[in-house]
Amino acid sequence: MTATSNAPEADNTDVRIERVFWPDHEADLTTVRQTVFVEEQGVPENLEWDGEDAESIHFLARAGDSTPIGCVRLLPSGQISRLSVIESWRHQGIGKALLDAVEDEARQRSMPEIYLHAQTQATHFYEAAGFSVSGGIFIEADIPHRQMFKDLR
Ligand SMILES: CC(C)(COP(=O)(O)OP(=O)(O)OC[C@H]1O[C@@H](n2cnc3c(N)ncnc32)[C@H](O)[C@@H]1OP(=O)(O)O)[C@@H](O)C(=O)NCCC(=O)NCCS
Repeated sequence: MTATSNAPEADNTDVRIERVFWPDHEADLTTVRQTVFVEEQGVPENLEWDGEDAESIHFLARAGDSTPIGCVRLLPSGQISRLSVIESWRHQGIGKALLDAVEDEARQRSMPEIYLHAQTQATHFYEAAGFSVSGGIFIEADIPHRQMFKDLR
């Protein structure tokens, strides 16, 4: 895996991680999130497309043939959201590589802390990446979540 940001080389596939901006890559980012969140998980479109994309930094994972296969975004507040990998590409380290890329971006921007709303089925994934749970379970888009954070200081 290669990266145009500071994401680590995660494995020996030809997947690459790119830092991108919404106006230039809206179509590719939309394809991934529509497939994972709207179609697979049933997130309502009005919640998925929340108006926060234009002000966010996005990372896009592409297969060797440039097909978009994963993404994540970082909001100015330090919130990480929309981490997603197309189902057939999961369990190859791509989600972790996207998370590492966005954490590196936050460190470069001197953000003291990053946080996210983790689906409860994914909290172990984030704990393995150094995030800690804070607070109880809450519902977003009909899916149980927990807030998690990572201190970068
Ligand atoms: C969560 C998601 C992004 C992980 O992507 P991925 O590319 O499969 O993740 P990785 O291959 O980098 O996994 C890294 C580690 O986390 C583990 N892991 C991955 N998904 C997990 C999950 N849902 N629960 C627990 N552990 C998980 C993997 O087994 C792996 O551990 P290992 O390396 O020790 O085997 C992916 O499952 C996904 O898109 N899910 C649907 C959308 C979603 O739920 N997003 C999170 C919103 S909070």
